[in-house]
Amino acid sequence: MSNGRQIKLGVSMIGLGYHPAAWRHPDTPSGGNMELRHFVNMAQIAERGLFDMVFLADGVGIRAYDEPPGALSHLANNVQFEPLTLLSALAMVTSHVGLVATASTTYNEPYHVARKFASLDHISSGRAGWNVVTSRTDMEAQNFGLPESPGYDDRYDRAIEFVDVVRGLWDSWEDDAFIRDQKSGRNYDGAKLHILYHKGKHFSVRGPLNVSRAPQGHPVIVQAGASDQGRELAAATADVIYAASQTLDEARTYYASVKGRMAKYGRGTDELKIMPGLMAVVGATAQEARDKYEQMQALVEPVVGLAQLAGSMGDLTGYPLDGPVPRLPEWRLRSRGQLMYDLAQREGLTIRQLYLAIAAGNGHRQVIGTAAQVVDLMQEWFENDAADGFNVLPLHSPGGLEDFVNMVVPEMQRRGLYRTSYEGDTLRNNLGIPRPEHPQSGKQAVAAC
Ligand SMILES: Cc1cc2nc3c(=O)[nH]c(=O)nc-3n(C[C@H](O)[C@H](O)[C@H](O)COP(=O)(O)O)c2cc1C
Repeated sequence: MSNGRQIKLGVSMIGLGYHPAAWRHPDTPSGGNMELRHFVNMAQIAERGLFDMVFLADGVGIRAYDEPPGALSHLANNVQFEPLTLLSALAMVTSHVGLVATASTTYNEPYHVARKFASLDHISSGRAGWNVVTSRTDMEAQNFGLPESPGYDDRYDRAIEFVDVVRGLWDSWEDDAFIRDQKSGRNYDGAKLHILYHKGKHFSVRGPLNVSRAPQGHPVIVQAGASDQGRELAAATADVIYAASQTLDEARTYYASVKGRMAKYGRGTDELKIMPGLMAVVGATAQEARDKYEQMQALVEPVVGLAQLAGSMGDLTGYPLDGPVPRLPEWRLRSRGQLMYDLAQREGLTIRQLYLAIAAGNGHRQVIGTAAQVVDLMQEWFENDAADGFNVLPLHSPGGLEDFVNMVVPEMQRRGLYRTSYEGDTLRNNLGIPRPEHPQSGKQAVAAC
């Protein structure tokens, strides 16, 4: 049972929705992914729905090959705002919703990240969150002077130290370091400034940070890593996980695996909120929801559908779309290629049916139905140790988010599963996770700058 716990909600605002044809939907502003007013509208709808946070996934480059040739020119998500810049603007037109931006540990320096997120936390009065990613693709590497992405272990090794340095920099100043005594002329108390002097395998950072301690102490740390090292890093450092699970069992296993690792880091399991992505297509009736979904699916052109498969299965151009899915000798992503091939075999899907089946969810759970049906699923996951909340993935934006706020949120509230007003002003308050105390707070320290 929920025991007074309530479901947490975020919304992924990337592009114009999660469906590859979202930008072609008649109600979608087709150029909205590069228009501030579209994101203002999205953030304000989320805040009307009392969402904990809006979330901006990101890459430092276009992360897909143009395969089949010409496919990219049919997709809208090739261009997007830099997330911190966008969220700083959104901070001005919202007052409660959390603002989470993705930043890479492979293509940044810790000082940059610490400073930017601490600044966003001040600008938004305590609503900033950092989605920590290690950036997987070669396309991103090639924007930073590297021929290909560093190996998985190297990226995670750097990420662990990176997060540690960022957190250290966020503790450069104690909360009450700035006295700003205009009479005496003393601006800060030198004993409350702590220089980091970090020297590690990847970074040498003196500090201190030239931003005072953030309103949340530390901005919220979000992560989205499913592998063993990703889970370990999350158990040690994350406040929120954006996960991807298809079934209740899969989600329960993941939830238990991550939460089970927290005790060894001295953390209580409530200190981390696990929020799987959820693509909910909701209608006044189940048929209306299905029609909305089919309307979107009908806008998937073959070149876009084949592009969905190409990333893991290779280019299937030339094979009949309404024929069986071939097994190409070289799959780009072996495990995902195998998964999709198995799905096609199991369900007897043609190439067209396979790409339509995977087009919308991108590995996330989909639910198509009435508000009651959507909330049934959320409640089942929430009450069975599979989720603390969900990251809502609108089929298209803003319509998919509006439907969720107008129909699903009231049903959640009716069942007592969701807030009826914000609990607090900061993202940490609303998520119900503690504000990190300054490690030296109240202790004597000597520092000089
Ligand atoms: C739900 C989800 C969202 C993600 N969002 C991003 C993102 O916005 N940018 C990015 O570079 N990587 C993103 N990733 C990739 C992860 O950060 C991670 O690099 C990747 O999953 C490989 O690590 P893993 O093997 O631990 O899962 C995401 C992964 C998942 C599962």
